[in-house]
Amino acid sequence: MTEPTGAELGKKTAAAMALGHVQGGMALGLGSGSTADWFVRLLSERMSQENLDITCAASSKRTETLALECGIPLRPLDDFDRLDMTVDGADEIDPKLDLIKGGGGCHLIEKIVAAASDTLVIIADESKLVPVLGAFPLPVEIATLGWETTMRRIAEVVGDVPLERRGAPVLTDEGNYVIDCRMGRIEDAPALASALNAIPGVVEHGLFLNMTSRALIGSADGTAHEVLRA
Ligand code: 5RP
Repeated sequence: MTEPTGAELGKKTAAAMALGHVQGGMALGLGSGSTADWFVRLLSERMSQENLDITCAASSKRTETLALECGIPLRPLDDFDRLDMTVDGADEIDPKLDLIKGGGGCHLIEKIVAAASDTLVIIADESKLVPVLGAFPLPVEIATLGWETTMRRIAEVVGDVPLERRGAPVLTDEGNYVIDCRMGRIEDAPALASALNAIPGVVEHGLFLNMTSRALIGSADGTAHEVLRA
């Protein structure tokens, strides 16, 4: 594979830095997306070089397919009592390390996997760092049954912002729709998360609050650094 440049190199460098937190014997959660894909590939190389005994749970069909192609042993999430660590990407990361995720429509399983993990390590290129969440459209996964009704309830919560059902029709791995909410700026993420959670038909939203242990940020110059919670 040719060596990546620009943002792609930042993603790979962040993924490589996350490998430094991996030890033999660990149970790992594997996130989803192009940055998480780098981690899966690099993890597979390290596992074969060092003959590491690591077992993983995947957070999407895409990641499952890649991990199996790379020879990484997978088990269903339910086989694990706890995972030692999950490594995942993000669409936005604020100074408190709160996140918007779900650009790939996988945030339901990603959140279940992250919540089952002792630590959540986020890997990203530096474009994902933001002062305030909300420029990236917030994904809200909803049940297909009564989806227009649920979308009206979401509109009552988020106010006068554009809502779009993603794709035509694109279902998630779990067979649900995703509504993208173009918030612009989220002033009170915990209040928004609670209000969305209270709507029947909302399966999961893409706000990951108070879940991230550390964020590893890669730059286009091939360096990476750790961002700690402000
Ligand atoms: C998928 C996600 C991804 O982690 C997020 O969209 C980041 O993706 P990428 O690494 O390709 O930028 O939340 O649901």
